[in-house]
Amino acid sequence: MNVVDLAAGLSDAVPAGTFVETVTDVQHYTADLFRFRLTRPASFRFRSGEFVMIGLMVGEKPIFRAYSIASPSWDEELEFFSIKVPNGPLTQHLQKIKPGDVVLMKKKPTGTLVNDALVPGKRLYMFSTGTGVAPFASLIRDPETYEKFEDVILTQTCRQAADLAYAQDVVAAAKADPLIGELASERLRLFTSTTREPHPYQGRITTLIEDGTLFKALDVPPLDPATDRAMICGSMAMIQDTKTLLEKNGLTEGANNRPAEFVIERAFVG
Ligand code: A2P
Repeated sequence: MNVVDLAAGLSDAVPAGTFVETVTDVQHYTADLFRFRLTRPASFRFRSGEFVMIGLMVGEKPIFRAYSIASPSWDEELEFFSIKVPNGPLTQHLQKIKPGDVVLMKKKPTGTLVNDALVPGKRLYMFSTGTGVAPFASLIRDPETYEKFEDVILTQTCRQAADLAYAQDVVAAAKADPLIGELASERLRLFTSTTREPHPYQGRITTLIEDGTLFKALDVPPLDPATDRAMICGSMAMIQDTKTLLEKNGLTEGANNRPAEFVIERAFVG
C-alpha cells in the first residue's frame, strides 16, 4: 500500500489517534533537505516549538518519526523541515511526497522548546545545527516570543552554506509578515556559520561562543544568567557541548514544570 491507496479509502490500516492530512506544498532546498506543508486539523492545538509524530504507511505498516512543527501555532497549515536520509525508514519515502498526497500525524504534540519553560529575560538565544532549526522557525513567527524577549537571536550552523537557506527564508518571511513583521524586524537577528566550506563566519557554534566571535558579531555582552535565556536543538553531541558551555556561564536547565534559563531538545532525524 502506498499513500495514494490510503487516500483512496484504505483507512482501516490507519492507527488510532492519528490524523490523515493532505500535503499542500513541498520545497526541496538541497539534495538532503526539504520542507513540506500539511493541512491542519481544526482540533489540533500545539505550542510553538513543540514536536509531533509524522508518518506514512509503508506497505501494511505505519512508520512514524518525531518532527518539530516549524510553523507557528497561529498558522492555518502545518510546516515541517526534514532531512532526506538515504535508506531512512521514513524519509526515503517522505522525500517523494507531492501536493495532494496524504501524511499521517499523531494527535498529541509535546516538547520542551517552549516559551513557558523559560523564566523571563532580556535576550533569547536559539542555538541550532542542521534541521534543529525547525522548532525555532515556529518560535520566531510567534508574537509571544517577542512579548517575552526584546532581543531574539537565532543561530544555525551547518556543514555547507546551501543548508542555511531554509532559515534565511523563514527569517526573511518573518520580517515581512503582516502579523509579526514589525516586531521581528526590530528584535530578530539570524547568525549563521558553516563548518565545511567558506562563509562569513566559520566554525561550530560552541567554538564561536567560547572564543567570543558570536558576541562580537552581534555586539552583545557575553552570556549572563541575569539577562540571557537559551534554547538548544541539534545533534546529541552539539546539545551536550552547548549545554556544558551554558552551565559554565551560570545558566541552569529548565523544563515545562520547572522553568529556568535554558532548555534543550534533540533534533530528530528521519
Ligand atoms: P562539523 O562539520 O565540525 O562536524 P551534522 O550534519 O553532522 O549534524 O552537523 C551539523 C553541524 O553541527 C555541522 O556544522 C557540525 O560541525 C556541527 N556540530 C557537530 N557536532 C557538534 C558539536 N558537538 N558541537 C557543536 N557543533 C557540532
